[in-house]
Amino acid sequence: MSQPKELPWLRITRADSIPAREGRSVRLGGMEIAIFNLGERFVAIENACPHRGGPLADGIVSSQGDGVTVTCPLHNWRISIEDGDVRKPSGKGHACVRTFDVKVENGIILFRPAPRVSETAA
Ligand code: FES
Repeated sequence: MSQPKELPWLRITRADSIPAREGRSVRLGGMEIAIFNLGERFVAIENACPHRGGPLADGIVSSQGDGVTVTCPLHNWRISIEDGDVRKPSGKGHACVRTFDVKVENGIILFRPAPRVSETAA
């Protein structure tokens, strides 16, 4: 039985093109991704709020007791950009957005176009 082939890293943009604490949207095939610069690292989530699809890349990034989140610009839901879970409003069950691996090499943001393994293993 063959192992699933690991997806390649895709070059996205220069790391210095995304200011600290801001996000940018990127369309890759049929997906729209929000990539955020957290200063010391980059994170990527799908760019669609689980409420009504608001553009999370345009939201405000903040750090609170429950981690780093983005506030959706449409109706202020607050989404973790680390694990994709909805933090506010609470009680939304398993509403979440997909998270993805990103890294920076030689000043270029690289993206792997598959949800993190821990999210697909459940
Ligand atoms: S679409 Fe994001 S809070 Fe409504």
